[in-house]
Amino acid sequence: MNTLTPDQIPEKWGDIAAAYGEAFETLTSQFADEVISRLSPKTGETVLDVAAGTGSFSLRAAKLGADVLATDFAEGMVEHIQQRIDGALIHNIRTQVMDGQALDVVDASYDMSVSIVGLIFFPDIDKGFAELKRVLKPGGRCAVVCWDHPENFDMMRLLKQSIATAVPDFEMPVQTPVWARMVGEDALKEKFQQAGFNEVGITTIDGLLTLDSVEDFWSVFISSSPPMSALFSSLGEENTERVGREFVRLATDDHKNKVVTLASKACVGIAYA
Ligand SMILES: C[S@@+](CC[C@H](N)C(=O)[O-])C[C@H]1O[C@@H](n2cnc3c(N)ncnc32)[C@H](O)[C@@H]1O
Repeated sequence: MNTLTPDQIPEKWGDIAAAYGEAFETLTSQFADEVISRLSPKTGETVLDVAAGTGSFSLRAAKLGADVLATDFAEGMVEHIQQRIDGALIHNIRTQVMDGQALDVVDASYDMSVSIVGLIFFPDIDKGFAELKRVLKPGGRCAVVCWDHPENFDMMRLLKQSIATAVPDFEMPVQTPVWARMVGEDALKEKFQQAGFNEVGITTIDGLLTLDSVEDFWSVFISSSPPMSALFSSLGEENTERVGREFVRLATDDHKNKVVTLASKACVGIAYA
């Protein structure tokens, strides 16, 4: 049996739900907006959000009147979404803990199925695509968002540079991150086609993380995803502080103006059942 990485374990995501939302929701919301503009969910339509995280897409779709089921395998994430729903008094959105590889949803029951930088973590990505298709009514629409190639990530480049400078003896994990098993337009298109989807269209978009304070970002970034928590716990407190100082220095050197923008690219795939 293959060993699971931290980002394939529900409790690891549940533990960092709030930090994930704080660090990344302004970024993944841009992907959610793109998916909303392409799928145009309407009042009365049914939407299944798989690996919904803190719920940025689900909440948007519900505000447009769709009946949304927001799912995630991490209880902590689902609780986080539920709190937001309760706070916003939205009634057309439900939540349920579910593994995206085995959805507790009947066949052909949804108008739309979506997974935004979620299915990329599944041990069996193909099963994730098959499930997104299985739940769709004939002609139903699907959106999957994955990252573009990792070299297009300012954040990861800065992080690697900061560690190399601040803690030169530290050996960075050499293993390819699980999310990098499917990156770029061609890989995403192939997965959709293999799962039997029709009219597959992929577009690459920019994702910009705009930071008023790099220090504040750093304070949540270190526990914003299971791999980050694992990395910084192996670096230890003192080294993490050193790396942080270097990260802030590099990020503010890179961007002479006050507001720092970290760029990334994501691939948005739309297809039909
Ligand atoms: C990077 S977050 C993306 C969250 C959200 N879709 C967004 O756009 O911000 C990845 C999410 O995938 C969830 N996840 C990972 N593996 C999963 C699985 N097998 N089934 C369901 N959810 C999973 C995690 O709990 C986490 O909430």
